[in-house]
Amino acid sequence: WPAIARRVAAIERLKHEHHAVVLAHNYMPPEIHALVGDIRGDSLALAREAKRVAADTIVQAGVHFMAETTKILCPERRVLIPDTRAGCSLAASISGAQVRALKRRYPAVPIVTYVNTSAEVKAESDICCTSSNALAVVEAIAAEWGSERVIMLPDEHLARNVAARTHVSILVWQGHCEVHERFTPAQVGAIRRAHPGVQVLAHPECPSGVLAAADFAGSTTALEHWVDEHRPERVLLLTECSMSDNLISRHPQIDFVRGCTLCPHMQRITLDGILLALARGEPEVQLDDTIATRARQAIEAMLALPA
Ligand code: 13P
Ligand code: SF4
Repeated sequence: WPAIARRVAAIERLKHEHHAVVLAHNYMPPEIHALVGDIRGDSLALAREAKRVAADTIVQAGVHFMAETTKILCPERRVLIPDTRAGCSLAASISGAQVRALKRRYPAVPIVTYVNTSAEVKAESDICCTSSNALAVVEAIAAEWGSERVIMLPDEHLARNVAARTHVSILVWQGHCEVHERFTPAQVGAIRRAHPGVQVLAHPECPSGVLAAADFAGSTTALEHWVDEHRPERVLLLTECSMSDNLISRHPQIDFVRGCTLCPHMQRITLDGILLALARGEPEVQLDDTIATRARQAIEAMLALPA
């Protein structure tokens, strides 16, 4: 604990000195999420707040695509990512060239792109979505284009989970989250038998069989709100482990059943990394202006939809 306290105090000093804030995704471990995060939330909340926050420097406590999104929305600010290797299996599953090839093949079909992608991929897209607004985005862009179909990139499971709830026909890509694709309906059954009465909540990046076996599905913020509202006796969060760790401090009376998986990319972000990034002013996210401008249009199209 003294080592953590010393790092937290040093980070707070540097934040003050550099007029900096830390954006902490819900998958950050508690010592980052609770102790140094100024703004906490899911991908959509962080994207919205990044635009509003008054700071010269933003440290992204999250993975690289999140830091790029922040830079796209706040081009005049310095955006630091404590470890540039903090990637994402979804972002790595598709390139800008592959999106261009899809556009040549389906010129009349709008492209909805999950925020878990590179700036280059967003730049080729018509609109972005997150796990909390994917259904609304798909239906809005299909109506705007007068199209019965949309292409949804790159998460196959998120796309299939949205497809099950809309009449819009969805063309999917074969990208997967390496954390959420591992959950299975059999695992949910085994946990229900071992922990009677457990409420099972799943992130929509899980396969559709897992969502069908769950009691509720939603983005990390939606899962958090569900727990806040329902205060179950016992709950299993089928998502990254830090979600449960962060909720335990708010709900010490709830039994959080462990059945989660760690994201190796999120784990690269540490208190030491944040401290070094603030002290050195690097690594800084740099983006090509043309790509950033086109990617911003896709993100702004999403943010312009009703919240
Ligand atoms: P949220 O948009 O729900 O925060 O999820 C981001 C993510 O990376 C999930 O794996
Ligand atoms: Fe990417 Fe999955 Fe990690 Fe989220 S949990 S950052 S989708 S690999």
